[in-house]
Amino acid sequence: MSKEISLATVQQHNKANDLWMVIDNKVYDVTKFRDEHPGGADALIDVAGRDATKDFNDVGHSAEAREMLKKYFVGNLAASDIKKKPTPVREIGLAIAAIALGITVVYMVKRHLVASRPY
Ligand code: HEM
Repeated sequence: MSKEISLATVQQHNKANDLWMVIDNKVYDVTKFRDEHPGGADALIDVAGRDATKDFNDVGHSAEAREMLKKYFVGNLAASDIKKKPTPVREIGLAIAAIALGITVVYMVKRHLVASRPY
């Protein structure tokens, strides 16, 4: 297992000469890469110490760029700092409950109508 690094730790490395960032829940130390970056040092300094996943993806970096990341990997973002996608289980449960309630209401109304027929 590789090292887990908290977001708070990443945030401490937010300077041009101490430059970490998070991309896809992985932590990279790109201090040495700063001056080699084809997109310029400033692009990296702007996102120093934070999650740069969106910024990185928005540029549409090549597969080579992604490959380069491996060289700067220092650890995984701590599980407690990873934003989890909400599970749809609750929504599915609510949908089933709503449908069941609807069916019950229709059934009861129908029964009521049949029971109240005069013949
Ligand atoms: C630390 C991880 C990063 C690596 C390894 C990296 C690597 C590269 C590479 C290899 C290129 C050349 C084009 C390509 O192959 O896609 C590039 C271009 C570029 N990068 Fe990055 N990049 C990183 C992070 C970022 C971030 C966080 C930003 C923006 C905030 C950014 C902005 C750009 C821009 C604007 C270009 C285009 C430059 C041009 O074509 O004139 N990069 N990057």
